[in-house]
Amino acid sequence: MSAAPRRLGATGALRGVVELPGDKSISHRALLFNALATGTAELSGVLDAGDTRSTLRCLRALGVIIEERGPGRFRVQGRAGALQEPEDVLDCGNSGTTMRTLLGLLAGQPLHACLTGDASLRRRPMGRVTRPLRGLGAQIDGAGAGERAPLSIRGGVVHNRQIESDVASAQVKTALLLAGLQGEGRLRLSIPDSRDHSERMLRAMGVELEAVPGRLSLVGGQSLRAIDVVVPGDVSSATFWLVAASITPGSDLLLRGCGLNPSRCGALDLLRRMGADIDVLNAREVAGEPVGDLVVRSAPLRGVEVGGAEIPRLIDEIPVLAVAAAVAAGPTTFRDAAELRHKESDRVSSTLALLRTLGVAAAELPDGLVVPGGARLRGGEVDPRGDHRLALSAAVAACAAEGEIVITDPDVASVSYPSFWSDLAAVQGAADHPSAS
Ligand code: S3P
Repeated sequence: MSAAPRRLGATGALRGVVELPGDKSISHRALLFNALATGTAELSGVLDAGDTRSTLRCLRALGVIIEERGPGRFRVQGRAGALQEPEDVLDCGNSGTTMRTLLGLLAGQPLHACLTGDASLRRRPMGRVTRPLRGLGAQIDGAGAGERAPLSIRGGVVHNRQIESDVASAQVKTALLLAGLQGEGRLRLSIPDSRDHSERMLRAMGVELEAVPGRLSLVGGQSLRAIDVVVPGDVSSATFWLVAASITPGSDLLLRGCGLNPSRCGALDLLRRMGADIDVLNAREVAGEPVGDLVVRSAPLRGVEVGGAEIPRLIDEIPVLAVAAAVAAGPTTFRDAAELRHKESDRVSSTLALLRTLGVAAAELPDGLVVPGGARLRGGEVDPRGDHRLALSAAVAACAAEGEIVITDPDVASVSYPSFWSDLAAVQGAADHPSAS
């Protein structure tokens, strides 16, 4: 992507109200699952951003009629289990969720499709999905011995059986559940725990699914009933504000309608452990997902140890948590996070590069990083390496930095958070928020 570099400097306290963008993971699933379902679904609060547009574009190419009915509002006409063969290559853009979950969907369809994406997506590992899907019967070929895009798939025959995966990935889990639902016999999946949006939504659509920690099981041949979905705000996007307000003195932000699914709230828990001042107001349930409003005020942070089972609950937030760790008192260590190397960029190395630009002498681990803490952030030029979460983390750092931060490619933020820059300008210039009442 190309756009003018963005120059950002600290402008003092952040104050006001942020309407969060829709949850990216739930938005993808609401589109995908309803596309396969029987009936028509009204979706609202859907994230309208590069990644979800990729899913939308691919589903339309598979014959799904999706009408746009206003900002974040879509009507999906389910195809009752039968998609149409696409006329052209399916372009998944920058979106790993689109490519991996579509592969699972297509494994159950008697048609041929080719999937590709941008340079970042074509570098990312697909073997974690292609290997088990082949084991269930799908024919999949592609670059890198069939483990990288571009990929071609011919599906339609799924023989369910026992599958073991050692990757804590909700994308892999979702792909296998989608394939299994369209197969014969019982799928038994053994996989480390990750975000559970798919399980929640599939159950709400009438699917019988057994789940205990580390294991899932379902019988193939079940049909999905279309459901309306009100998508909550994205907690991963909210974390940029939680960190920005925490580290910028005098800040006080209200983040409305944030998804608070426990399998996604690791960053919230971690920031509180670091001493962040975050309150949850109006806790409620919306469409099977816990939701609340968050109030965050600046507070001194302290360094912590991060690792083990909490990593999948905050994996996407580590770049911005590392910015929080940089200014916290005392060191923070992130371990057990080798998955970072397989994201939109190698996020161990890109986060390290960001921190070093900010004047922070962080150190690399094979599976994480050590951030010394106690830094005064300085300015510099940041190349986000095509990674939205790096550009957004640099912008957060700029709120509390002593010098100007120049982000060379700010447009990459649009794959998950297109309104971030205008939201930032608003809270940098805003008066107090009118409280949560
Ligand atoms: C996602 C799962 C995570 C996450 C990604 C979205 C999802 O990836 O990093 O941003 O919607 O299922 P993995 O499943 O590869 O861990």
